[in-house]
Amino acid sequence: MQRRRFLGAAMGAAASLPLLSPLARATANLGNWGESASADAYVSGNFGPVAVESSVVDLKVTGELPKELIGRYVRNGPNPSSPTDAGHHWFIGDGMVHGIRIEEGRVSWYRNRYVKGGANTHVIGHAGKTLAIVEAGGKPVHLTEDLETVGFYDFEGTLPGAFSAHPKRDPDTGDLHVMTYNPGPPPFQVQYVRVTAGGVVDKVVDIPVAGPVMVHDTSITRNWVLVYDLPVTANPQLAQQGYRFPMQWNPDYGARVGLLPRNGGAADVVWIDVPLCYVFHPMNAYETEDGKISVDLCRYDRMFDGNFNGPFAGNVELTLDRWVLDPKRRTVSVDRVDDRAQEFPRAHPSLESKPYRYGYAVTVDGPTFPQILKHDLKTGESMVHDLRGRSSGEAVFVPREGATAEDDGFLMSWVYDPNKDVSEFVVLDAQAMVQLASVRLPVRVPYGFHGSWIADA
Ligand SMILES: [Fe+2]
Repeated sequence: MQRRRFLGAAMGAAASLPLLSPLARATANLGNWGESASADAYVSGNFGPVAVESSVVDLKVTGELPKELIGRYVRNGPNPSSPTDAGHHWFIGDGMVHGIRIEEGRVSWYRNRYVKGGANTHVIGHAGKTLAIVEAGGKPVHLTEDLETVGFYDFEGTLPGAFSAHPKRDPDTGDLHVMTYNPGPPPFQVQYVRVTAGGVVDKVVDIPVAGPVMVHDTSITRNWVLVYDLPVTANPQLAQQGYRFPMQWNPDYGARVGLLPRNGGAADVVWIDVPLCYVFHPMNAYETEDGKISVDLCRYDRMFDGNFNGPFAGNVELTLDRWVLDPKRRTVSVDRVDDRAQEFPRAHPSLESKPYRYGYAVTVDGPTFPQILKHDLKTGESMVHDLRGRSSGEAVFVPREGATAEDDGFLMSWVYDPNKDVSEFVVLDAQAMVQLASVRLPVRVPYGFHGSWIADA
């Protein structure tokens, strides 16, 4: 564990920033993939798929798994069964979930299973069901507790169209707030969907946008749902050239965030121009006392700008930034929180949409994720759990039962050791950022996207 002050100086806070010129090129900070990656980069090394579905029991625990944890940690990601040799995009391929079941300090099983139906990006528990989910028009896929595919799931017939890989759960109501997109011919729109805690859609809002935009995620606050209407759009010419994920940087599209009132409709959306950039993942958002919206996010200076294989190649700058959006003046102020390239941000699930202090992410160094970061957003300090040559993915924060401190809990992740070509399940103490337990697997878990701790209770 190391402590570190934020490097980034405030980027002229408070004032509304002019839009950056599309020619303004920042310095790549993505390590040894900064300039380029080979066409097969996202099917090589630990990005490469595994060929076998495994079920393993009797796994040895090194250290001590917290006895209170009873449930499953499950993570989804693409596992292309027949990867294309050239131009493979990381976001494409059959989904595969990797899960581990733990109870009272023991491991019941590890399994990996294909997700039949294509949902390859996230897996959540909702209304008693385990759901694999994806963006761009793909349907949720219902999985059994043992991660076998049941079939497509449309929330008891109430889902009108697309879903998303990033629903946001309101911790007070249990509702899911979902911003979906399905790039196709005009009229262009994104669609907001609310799913009740009981698992049925009870609100749908179609929001017109200017093009076939890629909207990966959303944020919620007490009164608003955010539309990240940012300049990555579908390019039919790329599709004709054989690209299966034909999304491209399109600075002429402009960049704005829409604020949809939670109790409003499309006509009520407040649009605010923001600097040209792309955002896959916000860490969290909340309303300030003066009615502004503060959102922390992993921001790229551009995306898929001549490189159509994945996010971590090309001369791209990735930073953790804070935007404060003013719905009255329709302005944004931008601050740099941390200039280290980092992704897969997470925070305390009970503080989704609320003021929070601690956020977690992993550093990105080309094809590896060598450190797990903990940000103290109040003091500006951060802590680093260095994996010493191993490589993590998203680290999911799980609060300790009965905890009173925000960071009293655990971080769960799959960690890959390139020297041994094996993976392990790792649990960190989130306060001290030290490893509590690890479970070495006899198989490899490829890098993937997102997952959840799904407790039995
Ligand atoms: Fe994502």
